[in-house]
Amino acid sequence: MQLVPVIAIDGPSASGKGTVAQRVAEALGFHYLDSGALYRLTALAAVRRGVSWDDEAGVAGVAATLDARFDGDRIVLDERDASSAIRSEDIGVGASRVAALPAVRAALLQRQRGYARMPGLVADGRDMGSVVFPEAQLKVFLTASAAVRAERRYKQLAGRGEQADLAAITADLEARDARDRARTVAPLAQQPDARLLDTDGLGVEAAVEQVLAWWRERG
Ligand code: C5P
Repeated sequence: MQLVPVIAIDGPSASGKGTVAQRVAEALGFHYLDSGALYRLTALAAVRRGVSWDDEAGVAGVAATLDARFDGDRIVLDERDASSAIRSEDIGVGASRVAALPAVRAALLQRQRGYARMPGLVADGRDMGSVVFPEAQLKVFLTASAAVRAERRYKQLAGRGEQADLAAITADLEARDARDRARTVAPLAQQPDARLLDTDGLGVEAAVEQVLAWWRERG
């Protein structure tokens, strides 16, 4: 049994799991792990060090020596703020490419487990419930239809004043999900013991309330 309480929230891109996970963590006073950010940081650090995203040993080396930290809302890489740099669509694609490499996943495993500290952790990603915290007390698979997710990502980008094209975003999300589901290591899939939370037509507050209700149910 996992000693530190862990809530694992997995799901596809732009499903809203990051926002929900963060709010649940705040409500419970738990720590929060955005595991996708670690893959994004690895992809960005690889670019900066001139390592190709296909070079498994090279990228695993980058992942193992990642000088990165979460500092409140800021994400710092090599002592520079990388919070917005890691959110670009290009780095999202790079993250899903490097995330398919087994040596890269292995290099990030212990680091992710290290975030499980008292009084508890809410972790979001693709394999939180399957690989990183298989004994999590609560597992949630949070999803939404591709159309709803593309719309959310579109609004997010437009809100940041970035160029956004709905058709391109939809195609990119679908390609990324297909890669995440098809890979041989830690593919994106709902675990048999995970609760399904479909957020089509469900606001953030309602999704947060549902996760908290499941958590209370577990005592
Ligand atoms: O969640 P986010 O979009 O930031 O994740 C970026 C990419 O990192 C995903 O498309 C996925 O390929 C990868 N990832 C993963 N395992 C995780 C979290 C993210 O493979 N636990």
